[in-house]
Amino acid sequence: MSDPHSPIWAVVPAAGSGTRLPSAYPKQYLQLGDSCILQRAIDALLAVEAVQGVVVVLSARDSLWHKLPASTNSKVTTAVGGATRAESVTAGLETVCSLAQDESTMVLVHDAARALTASSDIRRLIERVMLSPEQGGLLATRVQDTLKRAVKSINQAGSSANTIAATVSRDDLWHAQTPQMFRASRLLATLKENQQLVASGEITDEACAMEKAGYSPALVEALAPNFKITHGRDLDMALALVTLLEKDQRE
Ligand code: CTP
Ligand code: MG
Repeated sequence: MSDPHSPIWAVVPAAGSGTRLPSAYPKQYLQLGDSCILQRAIDALLAVEAVQGVVVVLSARDSLWHKLPASTNSKVTTAVGGATRAESVTAGLETVCSLAQDESTMVLVHDAARALTASSDIRRLIERVMLSPEQGGLLATRVQDTLKRAVKSINQAGSSANTIAATVSRDDLWHAQTPQMFRASRLLATLKENQQLVASGEITDEACAMEKAGYSPALVEALAPNFKITHGRDLDMALALVTLLEKDQRE
């Protein structure tokens, strides 16, 4: 049933070390135009009127958070993360559940490494999820390219190479992104119940844990670029987009 009055909080896991994007400090602190990646992810959430609080999950070794404007925002709190993203998300959810103290609280779990997420997409996600809040939902994009399943074979030079084993239908296939929105207490309980599947890598995002528990999260198409900054090439692309955007805003 629709429940438009549930408090909405956000958890931003930002305790990773960015091993696939080597730099002097973790990628969430890299500058993108006027602000850094993590600040941008938080700003997109804070711009959504319905968001009451944001819990940013930091590494125990973090030494840069205090330099961000977000660190002094009264809506923003921090928690200490763990060795994996799932552990960090769990720590953030525990903080939300103790601060919000309302069983109906909804949470948006949003990667710090998505610096471009549009607040308008987050608003559409919230609107859609609040039609059936028990099921939850997430931002996602449709798979657009033709999909191939690969098989390893040995080429004439004697080295291993990928060749096509089959073409896979892309109908009904989507790329899962964040934010992912669920009842905070339900998501926390589900992640704890499925700790083993999370640890083995079978559960890779919040939606997957909820699916295993029998829920059918809604897929809400992200209309603005919402890719995760994982490799150096993602950072280059994000920088190009932000530069264009900030130039437009100044003109
Ligand atoms: N994350 C986290 N705690 C961890 C690992 C990851 O909070 N122990 C966060 C990252 O900070 C990031 C998000 O989860 O915002 C998505 O993870 P990913 O893009 O994989 O970031 P990293 O784990 O930092 O990067 P890598 O996998 O390349 O090391
Ligand atoms: Mg990682």
